[in-house]
Amino acid sequence: MDSEVTALAARIAKAERLTILTGAGVSAASGVPTFRGQEGLWRQYRPEDLATPQAFARDPLLVWEWYACRRERLAACRPNAAHDVIAAWSQRSGCRVITQNVDDLHIRAGTRSLIRIHGSIWELSCWQSCAQGATPWRDETIRFESLPPRCPYCGGMARPAVVWFGESLRGENLRAALDATSCDLFLTVGTSAVVYPAAGLVHEAKRRGAFTAEINLEATPSSGDVDVAILAAAEDVLPRVASLMNAAE
Ligand code: OAD
Repeated sequence: MDSEVTALAARIAKAERLTILTGAGVSAASGVPTFRGQEGLWRQYRPEDLATPQAFARDPLLVWEWYACRRERLAACRPNAAHDVIAAWSQRSGCRVITQNVDDLHIRAGTRSLIRIHGSIWELSCWQSCAQGATPWRDETIRFESLPPRCPYCGGMARPAVVWFGESLRGENLRAALDATSCDLFLTVGTSAVVYPAAGLVHEAKRRGAFTAEINLEATPSSGDVDVAILAAAEDVLPRVASLMNAAE
């Protein structure tokens, strides 16, 4: 693995256009449960059971309870070494970061040019998509007085402003993410690479000529297609890559 880490450091150092795609594994060391890991279940529900418009229509209280629990847990979490390295690289011109994570830990670490393709758990929007409430607003309340919280514009139900299964990404985010696949190096970190369209971005980057790399604790459906796959924890590997780059400067 050492030679792969060294090779990745050399590639990142010389990449003029670096794009990083992150998933839940990047936040694991901060104490945020991954979706498909052992802690991914809430009560007996899988994310796919609750993170859908159908689930919200059927039982908005249940879905909001799940989000309220996750917001409470997240409020105690801090960015880890992986977020910090990505935030430092994001200061370089030509670096773009796409995240599937809704926890905003990249923002708290100071990441620039961040494309949050699945939205933010700290933002709400109107369930009925009323004229003003269709645009997400930020609300970091941990304990809402009552669930579900209300849309301040029309008084209807508010929903988490995240992308649920079966929903489309916001057009501007999809365009920005696709644009970011035109790069010299496309690095995916801590994603199981099974949820599309995010999982397709690395293939699009490769098609457009990028060198592709993956950092993950275990092999994913993309591992066989990328140029370098490093099987290790993001919070260990990224600081090693960064220090090799600093030493070579
Ligand atoms: P997953 O939970 O599917 O995958 C997390 C990945 O991170 C797994 O492949 C783990 O092996 C890896 N991993 C865990 N800890 C790690 C660490 N310390 N370092 C490196 N890798 C680690 O999460 P996502 O791929 O982000 O969508 O899931 C994609 C989407 O599915 C989410 O954005 C969410 C979810 O349902 C929506 O909510 C729409």
